[in-house]
Amino acid sequence: MVAKISKAPQISTEHESPFGFDELFFSRTDSRGKITSGNTVFQRVSRFEWDELLEKPHNIIRHPDMPRAVFWLLWDRIRKGLPVGAYVKNRAKDGCYYWVFAIVTPIEDGYLSVRLKPSSALFARVQQEYRTLLQAEKDEELTPARSAEVLLKRLNELGFRDYEIFMTKALISEMLARDKVLEIEPQRTISLFQDLVLASEKLLETATAVAGTYHDFRFVPLNLIIQAGQLGKDGAAIGRISNNYSLLAEEIRLALGGFLDAAKQVSDTIREGAFLLATSNMQEEIANAFAKEGEASEIDHVNEMEHLNRQRALYSAKALTNLENLVSVQQELGAFAEGMDEIKRLTSGLAAVRIMGKVEAGRLSSSVLNDLITDLDSFQQSLSEGLTEIQALNSELSKRSGDLLEAHAAETRGTRALAA
Ligand SMILES: Cc1cc2nc3c(=O)[nH]c(=O)nc-3n(C[C@H](O)[C@H](O)[C@H](O)COP(=O)(O)O)c2cc1C
Repeated sequence: MVAKISKAPQISTEHESPFGFDELFFSRTDSRGKITSGNTVFQRVSRFEWDELLEKPHNIIRHPDMPRAVFWLLWDRIRKGLPVGAYVKNRAKDGCYYWVFAIVTPIEDGYLSVRLKPSSALFARVQQEYRTLLQAEKDEELTPARSAEVLLKRLNELGFRDYEIFMTKALISEMLARDKVLEIEPQRTISLFQDLVLASEKLLETATAVAGTYHDFRFVPLNLIIQAGQLGKDGAAIGRISNNYSLLAEEIRLALGGFLDAAKQVSDTIREGAFLLATSNMQEEIANAFAKEGEASEIDHVNEMEHLNRQRALYSAKALTNLENLVSVQQELGAFAEGMDEIKRLTSGLAAVRIMGKVEAGRLSSSVLNDLITDLDSFQQSLSEGLTEIQALNSELSKRSGDLLEAHAAETRGTRALAA
């Protein structure tokens, strides 16, 4: 008789070190990542005593489930003086875990990390992605830099143009998800920024697709010219027509290229603005919370308060400068609209030339020419559809940036009125 092997039930040994959605926490480090201070929530959730945390490298709370790629990206950005946002799973002293979404910014002589409790749909997705990446790091013995490349490629597949757009969308989603859990009114400028980021990414996507349409059909006019050449005298007219088409198509290519660059700039300004404003809001909230915390013997409260206040003033100034840039973005969008009219005008020129080509190809009853003209038909069609979509997105974007600027002005007036 075969002995029955009873499988022990899988008991998760993982327990969470809990903290509330209303509790933000922070830690500050020197330039090498050694902890120099923090608030009481940070110390409590880590389950270390202050003297075990202070002057220790921040990896004291590193969780083995974290892929190395994330820390590689984090340090790569902050060393360049750039802010970064990341989901991080941490390990408390007793082995319990806790997840945070952290925003790390360069600060005098080191770095500041402000964290919230994540809960968005994106967070669930990221946990899954981290597990896959960690496994790949182990199986394929990836270096942190190589693993960061894998992560970026994966984010790209998931629809994030780059890490910056990922961290911005994540930060905004987490702040709004947190407002929802806490049953407080969603921060209006943040939710307007969320719409604006989506709209600008869509514009960029469409502009890229339209430019891609051009790329796909770029050899058609040239092929037509070659075909016409082979027809000798009979092909003279179609040769001229194809030449005209080619010249017009080249003008469209240049105009689309310029448009694409501008769309990218608009998208980047909006994305950066969203991240800066969200960061400055978080820093303001943590500074207010820390002010209420009062003196704890291990941390020099007055000195720390000064650091936090300077940082929040810096980031709110950065966010403001960016919002001012948004005004020029709006003007740029106006210029886009004019540029689009120009491209549409060129496109209708294309249509006229194409129809002449169609007549001529029919007369010559050449199937190759007919096929090439049919390709031009499709090109023309996709181009017009793409341009119409771009114009609609353009005006949506322009309206949304207007709404955001108004909402920000109203919030600023509100804050000033409260302060008076
Ligand atoms: C301000 C700041 C905050 C950080 N916070 C954390 C954290 O909460 N958890 C963590 O594991 N690493 C954090 N790090 C990153 C660590 O310095 C370190 O890169 C990471 O734990 C990986 O450690 P390892 O290189 O020994 O694997 C932080 C770094 C800085 C500059």
